[in-house]
Amino acid sequence: MTRKWWHDKVAYQIYPKSFCDSNGDGIGDIPGIISKLDYLQDLGVDIIWLSPCYPSPLADEGYDISDYYDIDPRFGTMADMEQLIEEAKKRNMYILMDLVVNHCSDEHEWFKKACEDPDGKYGNFFYLRDKKDGELPTNWRSYFGGPVWEDLPGTDKQYLHVFHKKQPDLNWENPELREEVYKNINWWLDKGLGGFRIDAIINIKKASPFRNYEPDRADGLCSIQFMLREARGIGEFLGEMRDRTFKNYDAFSVGEVFNEKPEEIPDFIGDNGYFSSMFDFNETIFGTSEKGWYDASPITPDDYKRCCFESQAKVGDIGLLSNIIENHDEPRGVSRYIPEGECCTQSKKLLAAMNFMLRGLPFIYQGQELGMENVPFSSIDEIDDISTLDEYQVALNAGLSPADALHAVAKFSRDNARTPMQWSGEANAGFTTGKPWLKVNPNYTSINAADQLEDPDSVRSFYKELIALRKDPDYKETVVYGELKPYLEEQHNLMAYYRKGEQTLLVIGNYQMEEQTVELPSEYHSEYKKILLNNYPELVQEGTTLILHGYQAVVLEM
Ligand code: GLC
Ligand code: CA
Repeated sequence: MTRKWWHDKVAYQIYPKSFCDSNGDGIGDIPGIISKLDYLQDLGVDIIWLSPCYPSPLADEGYDISDYYDIDPRFGTMADMEQLIEEAKKRNMYILMDLVVNHCSDEHEWFKKACEDPDGKYGNFFYLRDKKDGELPTNWRSYFGGPVWEDLPGTDKQYLHVFHKKQPDLNWENPELREEVYKNINWWLDKGLGGFRIDAIINIKKASPFRNYEPDRADGLCSIQFMLREARGIGEFLGEMRDRTFKNYDAFSVGEVFNEKPEEIPDFIGDNGYFSSMFDFNETIFGTSEKGWYDASPITPDDYKRCCFESQAKVGDIGLLSNIIENHDEPRGVSRYIPEGECCTQSKKLLAAMNFMLRGLPFIYQGQELGMENVPFSSIDEIDDISTLDEYQVALNAGLSPADALHAVAKFSRDNARTPMQWSGEANAGFTTGKPWLKVNPNYTSINAADQLEDPDSVRSFYKELIALRKDPDYKETVVYGELKPYLEEQHNLMAYYRKGEQTLLVIGNYQMEEQTVELPSEYHSEYKKILLNNYPELVQEGTTLILHGYQAVVLEM
């Protein structure tokens, strides 16, 4: 594996709308982000990914872009963005923007021009089909529910949208469109961006010719996955994009890649991969059901461990995965990966350690470092996220009562992660002096940054220790590049693994409330040299056996 500048970094995702509001309008903004750079630097963050802040009608909270060359006035100005890049640079930090080019907004000028002249240049920027009475071009269901086809206003055509109808898919088969995308990426990289997180990229290649698949729900439609599984040749687009953009800047790119086949991993994140890295979603997709969120099964500690180890084994030393506990599309990790009723400071720290010590690039989602939790939603009216609203409907259609449907989808709602960042115990969690655009989690009085900054035993302080260990000159080589090998893989509710590099580290987590005994490895004479990290003040040992407290997590040097 060729060494790259970003390998030893720590990344942090900001959801701008909910991070910090500088002017009291209830919406987070770029000046707000600038005001928190010192907070992020203190934590040890090097790379910051901003979810979209381009002009957008916000049909999908900014993932529907109407101008790729500007900043939405709600979030600030281009001058603010330039200042953010500048201020980050002063702190040796890099800014990533979100590259959303599977689709644009139906309010983008390309789409408006396509409506005016569907047979002209811009018609070919989209997937258009002639409208037929009583029949759709294909029976594919969009990710947010309903068919992927919608009438193209003012014409006798329909356009394709795999996400919301306000997110028309861009036609990557058209070289003119691809040129526009590359031009935009380079324009931003010229401004000094560190790179991009690449949204929904697996959708850019459609299986052709378009055809129907077996319906899989009562709506007579089929999951878009059927078509995507058949699509071939995405590599030509992705390789071209890399060569024409990122590669020339040595930029960092991380792909939102789902369902890649093991044999494709070198193409995606090998030495000359399409991307620098890609997210590991193996834990987040565990238990999902074709029927909808209401039918999803919970994940246990043993499942979680298996998912992590599976991804690690799949990637090996081909490249570095980007590891997450949560993001803006997922519920809070501590509410999901820690069994119900057991969410506490120790278990949050355990989850942090298990995730952070994996081989790969750690991505922290805003508030994760505080152990922010899911939100108690008491009514569907409190929810903004279109995906949750659709899944609520799916649950009702399946016969659930409104209360059960709410309970079922609230657990997975993307809004769990989108509530305002909890800065302090003051009004609105210190996020805004106005009325926050989305409800604040009522637990902000006990979970907030101000308190945790003061407390050496807080979740945030533990994240700081984890980051410091990753950067420690004595251990960094092993933490970043060391091989991962599971230890006592079959032991129930135990997650343990070696990291083997210049030294051997052993990461051990007792993933349960009850005490658990763990044999020290005989190949290391049942001894360890040093405790590098521990979420309890002591480590109890009897002979060759460790006796771990509930949710105790340690990193040992062997
Ligand atoms: C990605 C984004 C998600 C968005 C979708 C469509 O999955 O992370 O938030 O809704 O793409 O752009
Ligand atoms: Ca604001």
